[in-house]
Amino acid sequence: MRITFLGPPGSGKGTQAERLSNEFKIPHIATGDILRNSIRKDTPIGKRVKSYLEKGTLVPDDIILELLLAKLEELENFLLDGFPRTLHQAERLEKTIPIDIVVLFQISESTIISRLTQRRICPSCSKVYNLTTDQPKVNEICDKCGTSLIIREDDCEATVRKRLKVYKEETFPLIEYYSKKCVLKYLDAEGDSNIVYQRIKQLLLKNDSFEV
Ligand code: AP5
Repeated sequence: MRITFLGPPGSGKGTQAERLSNEFKIPHIATGDILRNSIRKDTPIGKRVKSYLEKGTLVPDDIILELLLAKLEELENFLLDGFPRTLHQAERLEKTIPIDIVVLFQISESTIISRLTQRRICPSCSKVYNLTTDQPKVNEICDKCGTSLIIREDDCEATVRKRLKVYKEETFPLIEYYSKKCVLKYLDAEGDSNIVYQRIKQLLLKNDSFEV
């Protein structure tokens, strides 16, 4: 089964993808994590993409496609989080490996801003926390690896607003694209994380190709 999570920044794609991937043993491919790791390791790709992530704009399609398509061709099942994000990316993906289900995370802008200003991440293992809804056991320290948590550079309010604008301009057209292909499922992404997770499982279990 090939699934992609589509939705604005802070809608909970990463949180839910990690949980689904762990429960159903589906490889979770998060473009944002791959890019941030490249930046941290100062790889040639990392050097090329750093300024885009800092500004909250999209990394050019050619870089993303080069990074992702070869990796996906090797996998039978996968769960994509943050890809595709432009019509061009979606069309190239469709030619290579068509997607079975696209889950669209629907959420208000005020919830997004409040979630992202409270988000903290571990710079070492990438685990995500929230100071209101998902706190670490010890203040601002990662439960998994003991590293001090940080605020993601693109989580300041001005950059979050820029990312939302980019989402509306560049990613919104994918809703119509996938709706016409009859693979789009609408998810109410508001509310408690456990409830959202149950909603996702219900959506997926209605699909014949999703096996438990
Ligand atoms: P990326 O890392 O993909 O960022 P994003 O899509 O903006 O999504 P986020 O990671 O901000 O949010 P999320 O929906 O995963 O929410 P999360 O679960 O963390 O991309 C970053 C950048 O990389 C882009 O701006 C771009 O530059 C580049 N990029 C990436 N992919 C690209 C592509 N395909 N093409 C071009 N450029 C690309 O949750 C957010 C917070 O809320 C957390 O604190 C969490 O704990 C909390 N939370 C989650 N669910 C709930 C809930 N139900 N209730 C309460 N709190 C919750």
